Amino acid sequence: MRRYLILNGPNLNMLGIREKEIYGNQSYEALVNFLNEKAKELNVEVDIRQSNHEGDLVDWIQEAYFGHFDGIVINPAAYTHTSVAIADAVKAIAPLPVVEVHLSDISTREEFRHHSYVAPYCVKQIKGYGFEGYAMALEELISKEA
Ligand code: DQA
Repeated sequence: MRRYLILNGPNLNMLGIREKEIYGNQSYEALVNFLNEKAKELNVEVDIRQSNHEGDLVDWIQEAYFGHFDGIVINPAAYTHTSVAIADAVKAIAPLPVVEVHLSDISTREEFRHHSYVAPYCVKQIKGYGFEGYAMALEELISKEA
């Protein structure tokens, strides 16, 4: 069975509490439940993690390579717009496919959210579809290997 790592960056554990007008009412736990259900439907295995620390995300990206995952779905959250380390990690594990996801449409928000350091090294960027964007990302990874 295909195995995918789903990584979530800082403050995504605050879903349902933070900026509800942007990120909605549903909690991080609801996102995890949604993804576990989706994985069952798609007949793939997922390992879903969240950290507020940049280095954890770098370690996990490397682990996806050495741990023989088939791809990564990542929402780097604020690190999208700041982290050369995460971009380098994604670049380092090529050709392992990585899809970048954002709950909100970062291209219509503040100027500083328009740039993503990681985007050039991802097979796709999906933004503005809420939880569904993660499902679309999994489908993208599955279709790449079909
Ligand atoms: C986010 C968008 C980022 O700009 C922001 O810092 C986040 C979440 C999103 O999912 O829409 O924390 O990645």
